[in-house]
Amino acid sequence: MPTVRVEPAGLEFEVGAAETMMEAALRHGYRWPTICGGRGQCRACFVEVLDGGDQFGPIGRCEAEGIQILAESGEDPAAVRLACQASVRGSVTVRKRGVRR
Ligand code: FES
Repeated sequence: MPTVRVEPAGLEFEVGAAETMMEAALRHGYRWPTICGGRGQCRACFVEVLDGGDQFGPIGRCEAEGIQILAESGEDPAAVRLACQASVRGSVTVRKRGVRR
């Protein structure tokens, strides 16, 4: 099953086929930074991809718009994903502060 490792906390959890990264984290009892509640509007959930970037699902229109806005504020668009929109197919490692029980 696909897994996500979240640094710097070193948390790790499995992601179901029909889940986003953030949905899986919530299911496993973690809190994930969000303002919009996972509707793809606030970008507070975004992660920096450290490893396994090719193991994410495709970027949809909503996520692409969010990544574009993040790029305009200095983030590398090739290295960020929205946790509330991104599905995971394999093992990935991301950096996200504020993820905790
Ligand atoms: S939680 Fe708001 S954009 Fe992901």
